[in-house]
Amino acid sequence: MILSPSILAADFSKIGQEIKELDEYKVEWVHLDVMDGKFVPATTFTHTLVEEIRPLTKMFFDVHLMVVNPKDMIEDYVKAGADLITFHYEAVEDSLDLINYIKRFNVKVGISIKPNTSVDEILDLLPHIDLVLVMSVEPGKGGQAFMPNALDKIAQLSKYDLLVEVDGGVNKITGKQCLEAGADVLVAGSFVFKNKENIKVLNDLDR
Ligand code: DX5
Ligand code: ZN
Repeated sequence: MILSPSILAADFSKIGQEIKELDEYKVEWVHLDVMDGKFVPATTFTHTLVEEIRPLTKMFFDVHLMVVNPKDMIEDYVKAGADLITFHYEAVEDSLDLINYIKRFNVKVGISIKPNTSVDEILDLLPHIDLVLVMSVEPGKGGQAFMPNALDKIAQLSKYDLLVEVDGGVNKITGKQCLEAGADVLVAGSFVFKNKENIKVLNDLDR
């Protein structure tokens, strides 16, 4: 299991310290939620933040683009240091075109689906991508309750040769359910940042 803490729940007034603490807990991935105020109502940060934290850590940068025009910003995020770029299936017209475009930059590619999007809609794309990000809340903010319909999607996707990541409302209980369903990567924001000892709690679920 890979844990990918979402810094959306971090204290941005001391983001360098927050990143350092994740490193001290030997976290390998960090989840970076980009919101543009259009695909979702909120706005978060841009590639500049990614650029600023890149020198602080070797962690794998898992960039989740909740934006209407992902293609326009791919190059900026790659140059800023993204290792994986996940865009929303619902945000683009030609997913395959965007997948191939992202691959040209030699980074991993993921597709995210919202709670009302079924796995069947993206079956044709699965052979072309590295990861599917199953949203277990409506994208847009942290601290929401886990939606159990994500579990069936995780189970369906676990039969394919790719990583299955789940995002939203992950804690000790729902995290365990996701792992049992076949998830490979758990994103957790509020659960991790309210107490970093919860990193150990989530890592221990895998035993
Ligand atoms: C929600 C974001 C999530 C969010 C998760 O739109 O994509 O990554 O930060 O936060 P929690 O773990 O608090 O639900
Ligand atoms: Zn996210």
